[in-house]
Amino acid sequence: AKKAVLGPLVGAVDQGTSSTRFLVFNSKTAELLSHHQVEIKQEFPREGWVEQDPKEILQSVYECIEKTCEKLEQLNIDISNIKAIGVSNQRETTVVWDKLTGEPLYNAVVWLDLRTQSTVENLSKRIPGNNNFVKSKTGLPLSTYFSAVKLRWLLDNVRKVQMAVEENRALFGTIDSWLIWSLTGGVNGGVHCTDVTNASRTMLFNIHSLEWDKELCEFFGIPMEILPNVRSSSEIYGLMKAGALEGVPISGCLGDQSAALVGQMCFQDGQAKNTYGTGCFLLCNTGHKCVFSEHGLLTTVAYKLGRDKPVYYALEGSVAIAGAVIRWLRDNLGIIKSSEEIEKLAKEVGTSYGCYFVPAFSGLYAPYWEPSARGIICGLTQFTNKCHIAFAALEAVCFQTREILDAMNRDCGIPLSHLQVDGGMTSNKILMQLQADILYIPVVKPSMPETTALGAAMAAGAAEGVGVWSLEPEDLSAVTMERFEPQINAEESEIRYSTWKKAVMKSIGWVT
Ligand code: G3P
Repeated sequence: AKKAVLGPLVGAVDQGTSSTRFLVFNSKTAELLSHHQVEIKQEFPREGWVEQDPKEILQSVYECIEKTCEKLEQLNIDISNIKAIGVSNQRETTVVWDKLTGEPLYNAVVWLDLRTQSTVENLSKRIPGNNNFVKSKTGLPLSTYFSAVKLRWLLDNVRKVQMAVEENRALFGTIDSWLIWSLTGGVNGGVHCTDVTNASRTMLFNIHSLEWDKELCEFFGIPMEILPNVRSSSEIYGLMKAGALEGVPISGCLGDQSAALVGQMCFQDGQAKNTYGTGCFLLCNTGHKCVFSEHGLLTTVAYKLGRDKPVYYALEGSVAIAGAVIRWLRDNLGIIKSSEEIEKLAKEVGTSYGCYFVPAFSGLYAPYWEPSARGIICGLTQFTNKCHIAFAALEAVCFQTREILDAMNRDCGIPLSHLQVDGGMTSNKILMQLQADILYIPVVKPSMPETTALGAAMAAGAAEGVGVWSLEPEDLSAVTMERFEPQINAEESEIRYSTWKKAVMKSIGWVT
């Protein structure tokens, strides 16, 4: 059959905590043409530890690329039209590998992992000068969440890592670096780089100078020679060295939350989006200004779309557990068989019947930053059943978003008039309605929910030397939206929210 004639296409790897995807877009219309998804295993070797296999992650990327290309061929779309590839990834997750063998020297230590709690406590006693040393340079609180402490743990505890560092064979990277190095050739000339958005999540990166910070590396005891080169989010890093897309440039790289901000076209100061993935992350573009939060939010690099382009910053509210609570109900309690079933259960009751679920599995992130918190389900009676618990789990995602939205409104001074959302969980209509009810503002969802991948594809397609995607506003219109308006009264919304806060207080201080 005759192949369909399309404009240039751009592919995007979306490597999240729960799954990997590869998606291909038409660069002229932003239409999603095909994609493939593979779930990623998580290992919990000890209480509070979360690991993943870097090779499985890499393999899943190759598998998704191959399968997507097969699907495109079946649609009669010529894969030689794919002109660039972008990478977006779960941030902070830390990998150290051997540059001579290409082998990871330990599992990836996932962003949710809590093993560094005592490292963080010890380091916080040694902060030089004032307490603002880390935050003023990085925009981040000293927390188990970020890469520096995970890397410190690997250097202290894994003999293979220590030896490789001594023998100058070790490379460190977040998932983007691991993937780009491997995809561009690995031991045969792989490019060891990261972009400014991912670098800004390591706690080793100075977000003002946009360079690795010597003082921070000394403070955390990190040898600077193992760090990747920091590049912009949109430039050619290298070419694919194998597989169906061999020779195609990798020319976009953004941490997944930054990618979603770009994919949601939040290019103006004050524009924000909330992405519901494994966790939930609300980012508000603050333009060229680094705004420091007074209410528990992070300051992070939003994007820098080209070597000579200016950097944009964002305020971020990070919630550790959103979709992860649904996966926990599926894998640990077995009350649902698939994630989609949660909606059916919740719908059966339409209320949590006074049951509140605080899923503080990894402590609480924004706005509390409380490593001592642990998950609780409270308000139970003999009447409570699995449907109520399912409903409470969905409500928890919405309450946590309300907490970070309130913090954002206080920091920004101008309350958001509506919330732009995306991510896998937004296909759950009950969740979206609940979110509008609990925030008491409309929730707005683009009809094409894959905004993370779209953002990475845009960055890749717009890169110098690729130039198949224009970031001018006229190309980005025509996005249709679904809107959810609040349907309960404001008083009821407040009562539910204040009961949630009571439950949160009970979860804090659980471990000492
Ligand atoms: O900071 C962690 C974040 O990047 C993970 O994103 O999509 O896996 O929840 P996600």
